[in-house]
Amino acid sequence: MAHLHTTFLAIAALVAPVWASAQSQIVTTPNTELIVNATPGNPLQFVYYGTKLCPADEQTVISAGDAKIERFESQRLMNAYPAFGLEATSDVAVACKHMDGNLTLDLIVNGASKESSSNYTVTRISLKDRVYPFFVDVCYKAYNNVDIIETWTEIRHQEKKAIELTQFASAYMPIRRGEVWYTSFTGSWGNEANMVEEPLLPGTKVVSNRDGVRNSHTAHSEVMFSLDGKPQELTGRVIGAALCYGGNYKLRVETGDTEYHKFFIGMNEDYSHYTLAPNELFVTPSVAFSYSNEGKSGVSRNFHSWGREYKIAHGKQLRKVLLNSWEGVYFDINQAGMDQMMNDIASMGGELFVMDDGWFGDKYPRKDDCSSLGDWVVDKNKLPNGIEGLLADAKKHGIKFGIWFEPEMANTVSELYEAHPDWVIKAPKRDLVLGRGGTQVVLDLSNPKVQDFIFKLIDDFLTKYPETDYIKWDANMSIMNYGSQYLPMDKQSHLYIEYHRGFTKVMERIRAKYPDITIQACASGGGRANYGILPYFDEFWVSDDTDALQRVYMQWGTSMFFPAVAMASHISASPNHNTHRVVSLKYRTDVAMSGRLGMEIQPKNMTDDEKDFCRKAIAQYKEIRPIVQQGDIYRLLSPYDKKGAASLMYVTPDKSNAVFYWWKTETFMNQHLPRVLMAGLDPDKQYKVTELNRIDKEPLPFEGMSFSGKYLMEVGLELPYTHNVDWQLQSSWSSRVLLLQ
Ligand code: DGJ
Repeated sequence: MAHLHTTFLAIAALVAPVWASAQSQIVTTPNTELIVNATPGNPLQFVYYGTKLCPADEQTVISAGDAKIERFESQRLMNAYPAFGLEATSDVAVACKHMDGNLTLDLIVNGASKESSSNYTVTRISLKDRVYPFFVDVCYKAYNNVDIIETWTEIRHQEKKAIELTQFASAYMPIRRGEVWYTSFTGSWGNEANMVEEPLLPGTKVVSNRDGVRNSHTAHSEVMFSLDGKPQELTGRVIGAALCYGGNYKLRVETGDTEYHKFFIGMNEDYSHYTLAPNELFVTPSVAFSYSNEGKSGVSRNFHSWGREYKIAHGKQLRKVLLNSWEGVYFDINQAGMDQMMNDIASMGGELFVMDDGWFGDKYPRKDDCSSLGDWVVDKNKLPNGIEGLLADAKKHGIKFGIWFEPEMANTVSELYEAHPDWVIKAPKRDLVLGRGGTQVVLDLSNPKVQDFIFKLIDDFLTKYPETDYIKWDANMSIMNYGSQYLPMDKQSHLYIEYHRGFTKVMERIRAKYPDITIQACASGGGRANYGILPYFDEFWVSDDTDALQRVYMQWGTSMFFPAVAMASHISASPNHNTHRVVSLKYRTDVAMSGRLGMEIQPKNMTDDEKDFCRKAIAQYKEIRPIVQQGDIYRLLSPYDKKGAASLMYVTPDKSNAVFYWWKTETFMNQHLPRVLMAGLDPDKQYKVTELNRIDKEPLPFEGMSFSGKYLMEVGLELPYTHNVDWQLQSSWSSRVLLLQ
């Protein structure tokens, strides 16, 4: 120890900070920049993140930033990737136990490089420990057409034996204190993506997940920091951060005795200490940061553009209007029923039919959720003509066909489990803990044989039925009993991480062979709304709760980071199957039409009038689909503000067309609702207003009239609170959809 200490002092003296010769790395996007001081031999220092600076200010910030660091701030605080050890009272991003038992790190810059492609530049700053052969590359990927900077780290060492990584955040960002508010998302199954906004007060704020499989029911790994007080949608400086990882995560904001909120974001290290072999590369998932001075909607627009262009499978393509069988028939699948549903959705103008759970199982036919997962063969009693019969029906109706799988799971009542009980996740020497239906288990995706099984299942199906257009990929269980029958005992703590590595490998293989198929990420509803998995998935199911009123809140929260093109949003029955709320078809449709529209209903229970309404709505949706699915979002009136209504709009990038949505969120007699001002329009353009999905006997007073963008944004339109319909058609939940052209 004494020897090490002396060595450290000697090296420290050699590399004492010389701020005047600072070598800054400037990472830029069209309107933002991040600056770090990467002077070789010194710790990597965070200098600046925010609006793009002019060259003169940039230089001043760099030199003033250095002075500030030297004089006022602890180096550790402004360290861009703080490590545990020499200022042990500070919170850190990375920590390890070296081979010899030393728990400390002391990282200094070793070099930096930049690599550009046509769309982005990656700045890589290499750090090394002053004493141990331990290395971290801090990487920043800056896009040149959208204000997103992704950052991650790559960790390795050359000690003689394995070391233990105990903390491995993807990123650290100091955020200057002031009146900073924090926006995060909480919830549960059926109540996902509830937005929570609070001022950041002293103490520690942790948002985390430890489900093992799904990660967006109870919390989300995306947050926003509003720097100018209570969060606003259209104004104010906001930083957004999204961890791109499908597994367990932990986001920490430490507010203590310094001038900065200390924000750490990365995988959740709980029960995941990682044994890192010499020269093994440990890559942390990337975090996407965005800064906007146009409020939360500004940050959302950045994430949506980036998501569509770079992170969501086929994010720039329009989605089909579909009918999913689940809420219509649940497990009651049969040939005639599927044919009838296909006929109905085709006759309403839909383009795709998706057969949900209940179609499979031979020895153990899937009658309910107690059996059969893993036995992916058609139940010939339910579907005597097999998948071929369904594909023929789809062809006959002129629509596409999609199908449900839950590939990562099995039931103990299944032929798969009987053949491979060693393939399921199970704590060593303990009985199995069972999930859904009292028999569900999670397959151990750390096991390459399990990965092969899942790939082969999808591969065989798509080889045999290449006309399949869509897969709904479900996942309905957490890792409840912790343990792998595949991983050795000294690597049991790798299970959470290896599960997701295995999952990613499977998805990579599927996408390499089937790049065009549409895949929905469903995980007991909205359990997989995350940018870590979206490169393989086209969309996600927002929630198993399809109640339109509650969806206004959930879709609002979801829209903070995810674009409408990825948000599956379906018209379902009334009373709703979960909340039992009675909501008019008009309102249900108006809410579903603000995302990727679909239906989740038994059409044969709909009246002819209802089908006719949906037929027209689907036709109108097809017209506005490019605006909704590819346009820029402007959220106008938040349901969370409890003003009695909610409103948002989508505007095409050239500002020539827009769709405006308004939904009442409560109903009281003689209530006074605010008049909503629009946003995002060109003040000098004229916009003709057309109401979509109209049910009123008379058109709105301004139907077909044109207004300037300035008027719509500064004065707004007066919307009646109720619909002008016969008394028996009156409902508590009025809504409007306006097309602006
Ligand atoms: C959970 C999903 O969220 C539902 O949409 C449905 O697919 C069921 N699983 C089927 O078991």
